[in-house]
Amino acid sequence: MNDLNDSPVPTAASVTPAAAGPSPWRLSVAPMLDWTDRNCRVFHRLLTRHTRLYTEMVTTGALLHGDQGRHLDFDAVEHPVALQLGGSEPADLAACARLAQRWGYDEVNLNCGCPSERVQKGAFGACLMAEPALVADGVKAMRDAVDLPVTVKHRIGIDREERYDFVRDFVGTVAEAGCEVFIVHARNAWLQGLSPKENRDIPPLRHELVHRLKRDFPQLTIVLNGGIRGDDEIALHLQHVDGVMVGRQAYHEPWQMAAWDGRFFGVPGPAIDREQVQAAWVQHLEAVHRTGRPWPTAMRHALGLWNGVRGARAWRQFWSDHRHRERSPIELAAEFEALRLARTGTAEAA
Ligand SMILES: Cc1cc2nc3c(=O)[nH]c(=O)nc-3n(C[C@H](O)[C@H](O)[C@H](O)COP(=O)(O)O)c2cc1C
Repeated sequence: MNDLNDSPVPTAASVTPAAAGPSPWRLSVAPMLDWTDRNCRVFHRLLTRHTRLYTEMVTTGALLHGDQGRHLDFDAVEHPVALQLGGSEPADLAACARLAQRWGYDEVNLNCGCPSERVQKGAFGACLMAEPALVADGVKAMRDAVDLPVTVKHRIGIDREERYDFVRDFVGTVAEAGCEVFIVHARNAWLQGLSPKENRDIPPLRHELVHRLKRDFPQLTIVLNGGIRGDDEIALHLQHVDGVMVGRQAYHEPWQMAAWDGRFFGVPGPAIDREQVQAAWVQHLEAVHRTGRPWPTAMRHALGLWNGVRGARAWRQFWSDHRHRERSPIELAAEFEALRLARTGTAEAA
């Protein structure tokens, strides 16, 4: 596993060629602020190679005026990986798209779905759905600036606007500017009165509207997002749309992703069993530890690895115990294994 600090900063675009088979957007893990950071994406790559991964949203301001390496560096194993931008000013979006290309991302995605007040003050995120012409300008500016696919992630409506025509016209206008891929979180964003978290649960899901978008725009790539859990559910939606994006379920139940390459891409996945993923992950944690950075911030993404099987709670408790935070993950893994054997031995003897 590469040490994150040692991973080279790509200097030229290295767009992953579109596979001659399933759409590159067939399956993806959603962008999730504070969750889908570099460590999380490296962990997900131990489970699936073909699922598309997205960064957390990065604002154009943070990229243009902040520490670009901190926001943009990633590990080569993360491909295919998309950078998600938050912003609305076309020139800024174009400048950030150029950065995405320089760093070697496979896609640049514009966030038109985030309802947070902070984001609304910056006049981007979900409130951009009320300004399709501005989004179209942003998309055009980005497309003129780079060769990467420029995609948009949005909701089906804002506030109490429930008409299908609203999202259809949004997609139509933005598609005219050259956007060919739309990732649709199938619920409205209520811009007043709900927290971002509530806005991911309370406005009702309307998956059928996303299916309808695909019927009305067959030439576009339409990806459905929102509330998807089981693999059978994914398969069902794939009969109606080009792709499915999974957020919270993938994060909380990561082992589910171990079956995705086989089932949805027709190739064997990288994960043989949880023990093997655990061993590779501990190596990664050790590499993080050796750079002097705290490994628990990486480890939190993997606490769900053993969910659903015996020992899941012991694993979560052991690895989130703050008394361990200064110690070597490799040593800790050996200790955990000894404890596990002692526990199973006792159970068998009893
Ligand atoms: C913790 C968290 C952070 C999120 N951050 C972002 C973000 O940065 N950009 C974005 O477009 N959506 C963000 N989302 C929304 C997800 O991408 C996704 O649209 C939403 O969770 C619905 O999908 P799900 O039901 O499969 O989780 C976030 C969701 C969560 C749970």
